[in-house]
Amino acid sequence: TSAYVPYKVKDIALADWGRKEIRLAEAEMPGLMALRREFGPSKPLQGARIAGCLHMTIQTAVLIETLAELGADVTWSSCNIFSTQDHAAAAIAAAGIPVYAWKGMTEEEFNWCIEQTLFFGEDRQPLNMILDDGGDLTNMVFDNYPELISGIKGLSEETTTGVHRLYERMKNGTLHLPAINVNDSVTKSKFDNKYGCRESLVDAIRRATDLMLAGKVAVVAGYGDVGKGSAESLRGAGCRVLVTEIDPICALQAAMDGYEVVTMDEAAERANIFVTATGNVRIITDRHFRKMRDKAVVCNIGHFDNEIDMAWLNTNYGHSKSSIKPQVDMYEIDGKEIIVLAEGRLVNLGCAMGHPSFVMSCSFSNQTLAQLELWNNPGKYENKVYVLPKQLDEKVAALHLAHVGAKLDTMDEEQAAYIGVTKEGPFKSEWYRY
Ligand code: NAI
Repeated sequence: TSAYVPYKVKDIALADWGRKEIRLAEAEMPGLMALRREFGPSKPLQGARIAGCLHMTIQTAVLIETLAELGADVTWSSCNIFSTQDHAAAAIAAAGIPVYAWKGMTEEEFNWCIEQTLFFGEDRQPLNMILDDGGDLTNMVFDNYPELISGIKGLSEETTTGVHRLYERMKNGTLHLPAINVNDSVTKSKFDNKYGCRESLVDAIRRATDLMLAGKVAVVAGYGDVGKGSAESLRGAGCRVLVTEIDPICALQAAMDGYEVVTMDEAAERANIFVTATGNVRIITDRHFRKMRDKAVVCNIGHFDNEIDMAWLNTNYGHSKSSIKPQVDMYEIDGKEIIVLAEGRLVNLGCAMGHPSFVMSCSFSNQTLAQLELWNNPGKYENKVYVLPKQLDEKVAALHLAHVGAKLDTMDEEQAAYIGVTKEGPFKSEWYRY
């Protein structure tokens, strides 16, 4: 165990600004604030030492302070080298919560930061809960600190890619803890991944490039939840949007939603803007880069930077790279200039401010409920991946209705019986797809 470092952020003087923005965010995060009112007084997370590894943004600050208000001790790192909002990190550090995160860190610093979150306080108490986004913290504990596993009650995972890793581990017999898949709460993936990206993708491209989007041809690779929101974001800005897919169902959905579905080889020649949203690897590779038009903008909104073959690009054309501003680089390939955003890392957090608070309140209410469930029910869960019960999913949605002025009808007994549910929910079967 390393010596105690109380926090490490870019500039603690940014704390006041961060605090003001946290206050504004709280007003847009009714789910988290309701959970504070419901559970704040009884402190059901008392004794929990939660290590979190999730984009250190203003919205995440509201999550962290919710967990703290419910009684937990919390340490934090960011799950991406570019996603920290330095004023948010400063405000959390100033509030006395150990946070290790700044925008624009190296890979080595990234690992150092995660490592700092494993042990709490001067007396170096080990973590007993994991809250992860993408699985890097989980992997560090499982692979490098296996002696800590027996003291940990469980983990909750935020994103599609991290959840994928957990199911792989379950299949291989290397999942050593009960895990809650937060991503597949309906009020997470069908909201954050979709409506979040609908707002934050175009925001990122605009902040990075100031490009006129109307009239441009854009391609979105992958028409899952993130792809659906991303395609709509670009269409809303006036782009003509192409979609690539490997799944016939999602390809057909894209076609029925009015997008042209093409191969990446075709899109490579036609598009001005490239966005990868697959959670898969090598979506844009050398042969696509070579076909691109001059001044094409290339970015990724999936979790990892391997959707775009950055390794190939940097090995072969790294010498031509010039920085226009932080997180905006230009490469020259066969006489054409190609603009790459956020070094191929998730663009909405690298070049903009991530998703807005309101939609993150849905995601983080699920995170909070997952932590409560795992912490308060030791022995209830095996070393498997679970999703939260539908009733809690519906509760999260319900907590967000008033804020958008939505009013619910209620059923009478006859109606409820007619469709085979109870008046209080759950209102749908487990296999309903929304
Ligand atoms: P998803 O599984 O719903 O969608 C991915 C889609 O990509 C699928 O429809 C799949 O068929 C398609 N696909 C896979 N390989 C492909 C290929 N070679 N070419 C074309 N399409 C291909 O996953 P979801 O939830 O949309 O997440 C995508 C990624 O975005 C994940 O890495 C996830 O962790 C990340 N994510 C990022 C967010 C952000 O704010 N930047 C928010 C939420 C998720």
